[in-house]
Amino acid sequence: MANNILTMDKLVNHCKQTGFVFRGSDIYDGLANTWDYGPIGVELKNNIKRAWWKRFVQESDNSFGVDAAILMNSRVWDASGHTTSFSDPKIDCRECKMRERADNIIEEYANKHNISVVVDKMSNSEMEAFIAEHKINCPKCGKHNWTNIRQFNLMFETSRGVTDDNQNKIYLRPETAQGEFVNFLNVQRTTRAKVPFGIAQIGKAFRNEITPGNFIFRTIEFEQMEHQWFCKGEDGSKFYDQYKKQAYDFLIDLGFNKDSLRFKDHDKLAHYAAAACDIQYLFPMGWSELNGIHNRTDYDLSRHQEFSGKTMQYLDPVTNEKYIPNVIEYSIGCDRLLLATLCNAYDEQKLENGETRVVMHFAPVVAPYKVAVLPLQKDLNAKAREIYKKLQKHFMCTIDEAGSIGKRYRRQDQIGTPMCVTIDFDTISDNTVTIRDRDTMEQIRLPIDELISYVQNKLVF
Ligand code: GAP
Repeated sequence: MANNILTMDKLVNHCKQTGFVFRGSDIYDGLANTWDYGPIGVELKNNIKRAWWKRFVQESDNSFGVDAAILMNSRVWDASGHTTSFSDPKIDCRECKMRERADNIIEEYANKHNISVVVDKMSNSEMEAFIAEHKINCPKCGKHNWTNIRQFNLMFETSRGVTDDNQNKIYLRPETAQGEFVNFLNVQRTTRAKVPFGIAQIGKAFRNEITPGNFIFRTIEFEQMEHQWFCKGEDGSKFYDQYKKQAYDFLIDLGFNKDSLRFKDHDKLAHYAAAACDIQYLFPMGWSELNGIHNRTDYDLSRHQEFSGKTMQYLDPVTNEKYIPNVIEYSIGCDRLLLATLCNAYDEQKLENGETRVVMHFAPVVAPYKVAVLPLQKDLNAKAREIYKKLQKHFMCTIDEAGSIGKRYRRQDQIGTPMCVTIDFDTISDNTVTIRDRDTMEQIRLPIDELISYVQNKLVF
């Protein structure tokens, strides 16, 4: 079911109040489309990355990780096509100087007025004609006085060394994928992997985006989790289907509701792609891309062979056949998955006493804290700290000694801590504690000696 109690403003506020996400450069009034993760957010993010890595590297029989440099030789971006065609159609309002993505304002208008358009297939002049015909006004000042549409490259440029010329121009990578492609043979040689095999990477990417401000949905700096599967051309569609399923199952296992996920084939395929689709999530602003799965054929490796002059061919040790493998790419933004995880987890529940509790129903494996230790009275603080120290060796935990127990439960609910361990006077006499479940609010009694394995069992993913 869609989470219809949640708006983006409510979520932004919740994240700010609890320490998930703060506005970037907050005390300087922010920097558009940048956000900082706070103490709870960084735990959630690290846990999401760990869960992804476990699923797509650790549990894959033939996948390997890399951590490539953000700054790459500029020729990489010539080969990939980013220097020439990684751009968005931008349009400026002559009146208030607001810059917009032309495709976005058309899509918004079309959705609002129930007009069916496939904006991905429109040329710049078709988009200009649509905007003129429908008299679409500037969303900021309400006037209709647009410039022509121009393509703006999304890559952030910087220069290397002291001279500011084209020779020294380098880019902040706009995707992590190229780090996997250029290392294809390094990884194959050092691991002695046989095709089919995969290379995965988690890392920062940068895009000079103009966005409609949907929190961390689209930012100028973000992290991607990408996995490239190198296979024989004839196996491409089999593995494409397999990765569609794996990507979907990963989300379901993280606790996503089936009703809030759907596949969407790309309306327009890149000229080199044999197939491409997104998994969309029903965010508060509507269905939007969460991740992509692409059959990129042998385009990337062939282009790198052409531009670097180095072979990208794989030598099959059994058949002695030499060929450039195809690539099935699975790419998901870590920040975007985190946003979807927050939306999916958010809940407001009316309690019997009339109060409302905000609770984040995270899958325990990604919850920021696994356990909160709560001594019922001051005299029990020492015992509580002893148990907390034991748990800390195994899990990210927190201890809260202040306020009524009800308030402390509420504080943990709103950051999604799956288990609260309360320490009472029986704990001193019989070495047992109470564990309260976040979702059911039910409590059980357990010997302290069984606590670690009890929590561990809840974290299996
Ligand atoms: N290597 C393929 C690639 O980069 P993409 O569709 O441009 O494909 C992949 O990006 C994923 O990265 C998206 O599905 C999304 O989750 C995430 N992503 C892309 N741009 C983003 C942005 N500006 N902010 C946050 N996440 C972004």
